[in-house]
Amino acid sequence: MSDFQIFTEKEIAALREGGKILRECLQRVAGMVRPGVKTVTLDQEAQRFILSHSGALPGFKGYHGYPANLCTSVNDECVHGIPSERILKEGDIVSLDCGVLYHNLYTDACITVAVGNVAPQARSLMEKTSQALASAISAARAGAKVGDLSAVIEEMAKNGGFTPVRFLTGHGLGSNLHQFPDIPNSGKAGTGPILPVSTIIAVEPIICAGNGSISEKDDGWTIVTDDGSICAHEEHTLLILPTGCEILT
Ligand code: MF3
Ligand code: CO
Repeated sequence: MSDFQIFTEKEIAALREGGKILRECLQRVAGMVRPGVKTVTLDQEAQRFILSHSGALPGFKGYHGYPANLCTSVNDECVHGIPSERILKEGDIVSLDCGVLYHNLYTDACITVAVGNVAPQARSLMEKTSQALASAISAARAGAKVGDLSAVIEEMAKNGGFTPVRFLTGHGLGSNLHQFPDIPNSGKAGTGPILPVSTIIAVEPIICAGNGSISEKDDGWTIVTDDGSICAHEEHTLLILPTGCEILT
């Protein structure tokens, strides 16, 4: 698809319901994060929670062969960390990225959570990443250009002394988990596609403490920073409205 998908009121009602399941799933899984917990335990709970809602399916499982329900990316892992026997320890930061497919429509969201007490730099990175998402949400409305969102994310990252990861972007979604348009985490205001009313987008600042260069690990999924610097990720699915947006997740 090379144009925005526009949703009917009925579809929007389903997206709201799927988004609510996803929000509650992430809240629940985040509440289990503490030193000593295995990331696979978080994944099992996400799966159980989503499947306990009639009509809801985990959105990531099987997507291009992805083997889990949740992405759990720890410290220098930016995105797509596969849940495993890895045990979270005090001082780690872990992003919990999850998707729900409800009535054939996807929602997608992520939060980064501290494991016990974390270093001031990690705390600051998590705060800036949340602020970057909040700024992009404030800029999201019909008539805004995608570059307006990218620019505020980049500005917030840089003013914290951090770097947005250039090659990882937000995206349109709906019938597919990823579709038109890409929403880059850096760019120029006033450029890019114009957001229409009643489309949905996943905005996801992915911000690291180092130079922003990344690689894929041998597992074929996990993306890590090349310099070993920590990375944070916050994401919401947004419904675009005439004068603002509604956070669906
Ligand atoms: N939220 C992730 C993203 O937008 C989706 C993960 S795709 C999966 O990139 F394949 F890992 F599930
Ligand atoms: Co996404």
